[in-house]
Amino acid sequence: MVQLLQHLILSIAVFLFEASHGTAFPAYGSLGGLSERQLEEIVPNLRPRVPPPPPGPPAFTGAKLVDDAAHPWRAARKNDIRGPCPGLNTLASHGYLPRDGVASPVQIIEAVQEAFNMENFAARFTTYAAHLVDGNPITDLISIGEKTRKTGPDPPSPAIVGGISNHGTFEGDASMTRGDAFFGDNHSLNEPLFEQFKDFSNRYGDGFYNLTVAAELRHQRILQSMATNPEFSIMGLRHITVFAEAAFPLNIFVDGRTDKPQHLPLADAENFFKDMRFPRGFFRASAPVSSEGVESVFTAHPVPAGRNVGVNNFVPDNRLGGIFDFCLFYTQFINTTIRGLYPNPTGVLRRNLDINLKFMFESLGPTPPCPQVFPWGEN
Ligand code: HEM
Repeated sequence: MVQLLQHLILSIAVFLFEASHGTAFPAYGSLGGLSERQLEEIVPNLRPRVPPPPPGPPAFTGAKLVDDAAHPWRAARKNDIRGPCPGLNTLASHGYLPRDGVASPVQIIEAVQEAFNMENFAARFTTYAAHLVDGNPITDLISIGEKTRKTGPDPPSPAIVGGISNHGTFEGDASMTRGDAFFGDNHSLNEPLFEQFKDFSNRYGDGFYNLTVAAELRHQRILQSMATNPEFSIMGLRHITVFAEAAFPLNIFVDGRTDKPQHLPLADAENFFKDMRFPRGFFRASAPVSSEGVESVFTAHPVPAGRNVGVNNFVPDNRLGGIFDFCLFYTQFINTTIRGLYPNPTGVLRRNLDINLKFMFESLGPTPPCPQVFPWGEN
């Protein structure tokens, strides 16, 4: 019944999108959740691409100037897409990613490695997890979120053009600087929340966003969502990213020449989060980094995976795994989340999904937590 309703809403959304925009389905539009009939209409009009393998780590992984002459900051133009991730927004505004905010997984991995020195496995895992749920597997494109300013009528369904802003796939609740989807805008910087970010950094970090601030602010946002959002949920992938994303800025947004590791000055945080811009003359980290420190963020306030059943009624729920059950998370992500979005893919869609699933599995590292899972069988 719920599925039927979802299909109906998506059909109306596709129809409205085409009617209001007078254009075909966008090449970056997510295909997850579309009905077989919709896929039959849309897929033949897309230009298919065989997904190329991801890049390995770069040869040089030291600090270097990345706010350089070849990558000048430019404000997003009216049709450029920006979204919930301050890292990807910044890369698009400096031209490390296409400035329109639409990219292939390989472009994203190259950009986060080159400009942020993001560690190769982390870059691959994050990118393929996002692409599988929010990207277009036929065209090999994904958008980094929502439009900055809408020109015509609002896109009718974020599931179609939302890219990584799509709620409940990768994007989730209790973000530090974005509101919960339940309250409306889940992708733009939320001013009161950014004020809270600064307030916590002043109170617990003496003007820096550091590990203590990350742990306290992370918990505060979880408590706020528990107390106000009846649909609050941190399960599966979100139970991992909600903590990892609190640690990212400590490692990735801190200048590589620093003598205070894991201390992000508030002025620099403001550059990234508000202006989507490197601090002037920014050097990337001096060694490959990702979410170092995430364990102490979690152990300071160990909230289990779970969800609200009504406001202020948080129920632990580990069905989709979480931060300490990575094999269960991976298995459920493939068998529940991805198979739910694509119950019965065929042809090029199935081929490209299989390729991306293999890339995601290989990103789990040299010793993966469990064997590869094949949602539709092995061939
Ligand atoms: C590798 C590809 C990446 C993808 C696909 C990606 C995707 C996302 C998505 C979907 C969100 C929204 C999650 C939410 O609901 O809060 C997000 C948030 C975030 N991302 Fe990224 N990201 C990537 C790389 C990076 C990098 C390199 C940084 C650098 C610091 C970064 C920093 C963050 C932070 C701090 C947040 C949380 C914002 C908040 O809580 O207010 N991400 N990212």
